[in-house]
Amino acid sequence: MELIGLMLSLLLAAPAVEAGQTTGRNGHGLLGYGILMYDPACAFACRDTISPLLNCSTTSGNTMNKYKRMDMSGGSGNGPGVDLPPGNGWMVMPADPDCKAQNDFFLQTSAYCIYSRCQHVQISKLESYWATWLVGNHADQPVPKMSYGQALQAVGKPPTRPLNNSMLLNYTASVTDDQWVANFNADWNFALAEYTHERFGLVVFLTGAVIPVGLSLLRFFPWPAAWMNIVRYYLIDPPLFGSRHAVSALWGFGVVPTRGQALFIAYLWIVNIALTASGHKTVWPHSWFSSLSQEVESYVGNRTGLLSFANLPLVMLYAGRNNVLLWLTSWSRSTFILLHRWIAVICMLQAVLHSVIYLHMYTVGAVGYDYGSESRLPYWYWGIVGTLALALLIPASIQPFRTKLYEAFLVSHVVLSTLALIGCFLHIYYRFERQWGYETWLYISAGIWAFDRVARLAKAASNGIKRVHITILDDEYMQLDIAGVTASGHVYLHFPTLSTWKLWESHPFSVAASSVHHTFSDDDVERLQQRLFVGQGQAQVRGLEKPQGNLEISTSPPPSSEKVMSRSSGITLFVRRHSGITASLATNAAGSGTAASSAGLPVLVESSYMTRGLTVLQEESIDCRGFSNVICIAGGVGITTILPVLDELSRLTRHGSTAKVYWGVRSWALVHAVERLIESRDGDFGSGSEAGGAGTFKRQWGGVEVSLSVDQRFDAGQLVNSELSDREHSGTTFVVSGPASMADDVRSAIFSREKCATPLQVPRVRLVVESFSW
Ligand SMILES: *[C@@H]1O[C@H](CO)[C@@H](O)[C@H](O)[C@H]1NC(C)=O
Ligand SMILES: *[C@@H]1O[C@H](CO)[C@@H](O)[C@H](O)[C@H]1NC(C)=O
Ligand SMILES: *[C@@H]1O[C@H](CO)[C@@H](O)[C@H](O)[C@H]1NC(C)=O
Repeated sequence: MELIGLMLSLLLAAPAVEAGQTTGRNGHGLLGYGILMYDPACAFACRDTISPLLNCSTTSGNTMNKYKRMDMSGGSGNGPGVDLPPGNGWMVMPADPDCKAQNDFFLQTSAYCIYSRCQHVQISKLESYWATWLVGNHADQPVPKMSYGQALQAVGKPPTRPLNNSMLLNYTASVTDDQWVANFNADWNFALAEYTHERFGLVVFLTGAVIPVGLSLLRFFPWPAAWMNIVRYYLIDPPLFGSRHAVSALWGFGVVPTRGQALFIAYLWIVNIALTASGHKTVWPHSWFSSLSQEVESYVGNRTGLLSFANLPLVMLYAGRNNVLLWLTSWSRSTFILLHRWIAVICMLQAVLHSVIYLHMYTVGAVGYDYGSESRLPYWYWGIVGTLALALLIPASIQPFRTKLYEAFLVSHVVLSTLALIGCFLHIYYRFERQWGYETWLYISAGIWAFDRVARLAKAASNGIKRVHITILDDEYMQLDIAGVTASGHVYLHFPTLSTWKLWESHPFSVAASSVHHTFSDDDVERLQQRLFVGQGQAQVRGLEKPQGNLEISTSPPPSSEKVMSRSSGITLFVRRHSGITASLATNAAGSGTAASSAGLPVLVESSYMTRGLTVLQEESIDCRGFSNVICIAGGVGITTILPVLDELSRLTRHGSTAKVYWGVRSWALVHAVERLIESRDGDFGSGSEAGGAGTFKRQWGGVEVSLSVDQRFDAGQLVNSELSDREHSGTTFVVSGPASMADDVRSAIFSREKCATPLQVPRVRLVVESFSW
């Protein structure tokens, strides 16, 4: 995190130096947490009050423009026109830091003001304030020629003549309460407001991260099962309204969240709105604002800016593939992606509000700003860049665009997100440099993002470049075998040679089997060798007879020893042909036959990522919690998430529970390929080998009852109803892995309300959906 900050600041140091600017006093932390603003406020109020004309030496050079204003106060302290003519080597002017540091009257007036107003503050603190802040905001600004103690001694008797900022200060002046109080109020209250902004920002960020963890941990608490069931049945798992959740609704622009998701999204909105609107304390008189409404407007403007920053790390956190929240919670990745979208919208709206409020304040001339000159400053236009990038990210990420133009979406998403971060950073940097720690939020955001990217790289790099062998099963399905990799759950594949434009793309696939567990008997070896013999000539062309589980033998002469085979490892994936990357794969495989392509297509395997179904079933086998029955419903290649848990399922059946698999599939080719895979793993399990027509068929896979529904419509709703009526009161987990519409059919069948008249009749049921529909 710090590293990123360092890199960013190194990167940005160059233009700053070029522009002749200086480095502010860097703060570390956040305002109120490691960084204090206007502390001690009594002394800062003296500094803000004492801005007279001074008799300045012209030989030290007019440094007025060398230091840009870096505090928050609006007034720039320029007096009215100077009517005293300059002399040789001196002139009377609004004082700059060099002049103030050398001017006796300024130093003595300041010392007496501080002495009389800061009786309760330690001398050492006042001395350090004197040395670092009295004449300016920058680290390299001159140190006053005398210390606070020396200046105070030089005052002698208490001054009586009041300060007049529009006159030359050629005496030691006294600062009246009238002059000082408005500035004290401004500094003190502004700093408090800033601390509040940061505190509220922390509330938004930390609760956004911790609440999902806390809610997930609740599942380990021994709640009465009936309560949990009712809560889950009515409040968590059904769609917020209607019967669609996975399939996009709202004219294709979004999905209807489940009620549980909706509750958390509602929380995010409520906490953001409440913390934007509350906690604004005003004081009067206030030297920066001409009315209370101006003061409130300014605080709300700063609050929205800060909360937008505080939401940014959440945006990154929810989006991550390698994500602490995925490891610590029971929430799925598709839930977090949904939250990512919602929090991004909130983050963007906060940024837009911030910009609009400041635009309004400047155009009506509040706080002494002039829109014409402010709008030409770098901080202003980088702020516009950041806000625009955030705003553009939303339309560039809508579902129709995402699905139809995935590549364009991916590129624009990364480019605009980077631009948003850079815009926000430069906005802060050019305005305050790194004094107030606002950039800490950006470091955290960039750090979370970088962590995910580095973890992805590391996961892919640790496997190295592998070869994928593509077998076309039929018009619909392909089998991908990758040797020398072990993985479970799902993996992301990068195909570096498929297209240069798609170099950075990676696509999720679930691992049907990892052949590292294979133990081949002598019979198996023989059978595989025989099959290989048949397959070698035709495997790539017909694609049906390619041996499973061992890729080395498919490209080399059959090995003579059993050892070679049992040592080999690899993963097998099944893929349905769509447009996009899968179509390119199919084309690539179809065009094979040359020596190069029979060696396989280079692939980077980013592995492994856990799937929810796997986790749930593994938790399940430890502690059944009254959900001992498992009904898996798979569509097409969705079967791949079910295959790895067959062992868990058969263990359940041995303990007297029900475990069933329903699989709707379009063609026999995939059925055969899958069964060959299971066979190579479990040995011959005596599956029927009938092939051909459509219909429903029964199978036994490793002791698990499987109902195949080949090439015919699969009524998931009816299936759920019949399974539920069979087992009304013993708990059932439905695991769905397949097309979004299938997942929705199952969900609405389970949660359609008319089935249960009273909460007590709620079936004891739980739904786990494996989805790639991000
Ligand atoms: C300013 O200071 C110079 C000497 O440093 C002096 O000669 C000059 O009279 C002063 N001007 C005013 C207006 O006091
Ligand atoms: C300050 O001086 C100006 C003349 O330069 C005078 O008009 C004004 O009244 C004075 N203000 C105070 C508060 O003495
Ligand atoms: C201070 O400056 C004023 C001009 O602004 C002048 O009239 C006055 O005599 C000066 N006083 C002293 C003590 O130098």
